[in-house]
Amino acid sequence: MTSHRIGIIGYGAIGARVAEDIAAGKVFGAELAGIISRRAAATGGSAVEHPGPNLTLEMALERCDLIVECAGQQAVADYAETILSAGVDFLITSIGALADHDLAERLHACGPGRLFMTSGAVGGLDLLGAGAREAAFTSVLVSTTKLPETLVQSWMDTTEVQRIRETDGPLQVFLGSAKDAAQLFPRSLNVAAAVAEAVGNWDSVQVRLTADPAATLTSHVIEASGPSGEYKFEIRNNPSPDNPRTSGIVPFAVLRSLEAALGERGGLV
Ligand SMILES: NC(=O)c1ccc[n+]([C@@H]2O[C@H](COP(=O)([O-])OP(=O)(O)OC[C@H]3O[C@@H](n4cnc5c(N)ncnc54)[C@H](O)[C@@H]3O)[C@@H](O)[C@H]2O)c1
Repeated sequence: MTSHRIGIIGYGAIGARVAEDIAAGKVFGAELAGIISRRAAATGGSAVEHPGPNLTLEMALERCDLIVECAGQQAVADYAETILSAGVDFLITSIGALADHDLAERLHACGPGRLFMTSGAVGGLDLLGAGAREAAFTSVLVSTTKLPETLVQSWMDTTEVQRIRETDGPLQVFLGSAKDAAQLFPRSLNVAAAVAEAVGNWDSVQVRLTADPAATLTSHVIEASGPSGEYKFEIRNNPSPDNPRTSGIVPFAVLRSLEAALGERGGLV
């Protein structure tokens, strides 16, 4: 077995768990090279307890075979080309960054490092990818329901914010293209972005966002139909105890994706 050196960007709800499990030897074929953390940078690298050393991006490029992004869409936009061009593989959680068509085109063409995307908070992407390979889907709808506060955005006027915060039942906040959703609700788009990447066509994906004060679980319903068949996946995730905007399962999806990307053992692919 080859040991692959892994770097993590971002030490929040996702990155901390991913780093801890790699450091504890729970990912087959992986060892933790270190963490690029904004908090570490802000404190000169001294005051943050990590299971591995703090790295700058330059250090990570020298020391890592693969870097995992657990930091946000801006980190993908800022670092991806540098990482991939240096021949380091890059596994991203913030797939919504690829809603920027120009960036997506550049990253899909960039190398020699390889770009990987985690399935994150959703499932069924394998089947959607297989169906899209047979023939393009005719319709794809991703319906996400979350607690109202997580859908409030800085661009909204006070009437809209009040309408969302004070709703006493399910309230549709957005219905439109995945591309528009990406601009308007960037933090709620990673799931739709993963679906768009699975079906290979952002223009075919519609997004519906619903605020529901009773939504203690974040739900995603993915409906797709096309020549290969009709599919409906319903996912209901518990929020992360560390970040209510993130589903608790996401770090474990990242760990699974990481092991698959390293390719050091067989299993369900
Ligand atoms: N694919 C999915 O299903 C899915 C689901 C949830 C979240 N996400 C993505 O994962 C990201 C992280 O989620 P989280 O819950 O861990 O967030 P979090 O806010 O708990 O942690 C993010 C951490 O990254 C750090 N950070 C941000 N930019 C950085 C940079 N340029 N360099 C170094 N550190 C940086 C922040 O300071 C913070 O500590 C989210 O922004 C989201 O885009 C993806």
